[in-house]
Amino acid sequence: MKLLFASSNEHKIAEIKAILPPGFQLISLKEIQFHDEIPETSDTIEGNAIQKATFLADKMHIPCFADDTGLVIPSLSGEPGVYSARYAGTQRNPDDNMNLVLEKLKDQVNRNAYFTTVIALYINHKVHVFEGRIDGIIISEKRGNNGFGYDPIFVPEGSEKTFAEMDSDEKNKMSHRGRALAKMTAYLKLVTH
Ligand code: IMP
Repeated sequence: MKLLFASSNEHKIAEIKAILPPGFQLISLKEIQFHDEIPETSDTIEGNAIQKATFLADKMHIPCFADDTGLVIPSLSGEPGVYSARYAGTQRNPDDNMNLVLEKLKDQVNRNAYFTTVIALYINHKVHVFEGRIDGIIISEKRGNNGFGYDPIFVPEGSEKTFAEMDSDEKNKMSHRGRALAKMTAYLKLVTH
């Protein structure tokens, strides 16, 4: 089954291609030469995922899914949350974003955080939502060169390494996106068999 993925983030596309089980083929926006801006104007992570999936489904008429992710830090009242991509400004720079988090957490004892991903799948004229979450802590300096976004400052529970110090297999096994995708693929296997 072909599934269109509403993202042009190459890191995510590679992560998801590695996770999808046999029988499902991920198609990226680039592969179908879709270059329009996809609106993302909701103030919730779930709202954005649904908005992106339905926007694309309306235009393309094939099963498609979109994901939206946020890093949630309870001691910063849930920031950066839905604003994770542009936390330090519209330049959407991961280093600036991480520096801002580190600065705001400088005097905080509670450095707990979690990533949450919501995937919205549009199939057979309906939207289905799947959530994945991984808890961890924010360390005080960046470590590692793999992954993207906030990976260098996030250590998931049960690990000593940041996400950026893991290879993609190791990260995918426990990541927010990996967990949300596992739920989506379980659902797809049910409805396609
Ligand atoms: P998006 O909604 O998936 O585009 O994610 C919003 C922002 O969250 C991204 O721009 C990244 O800064 C951050 N983010 C998303 N997924 C990850 C991840 O797996 N690791 C680290 N940061 C991430």
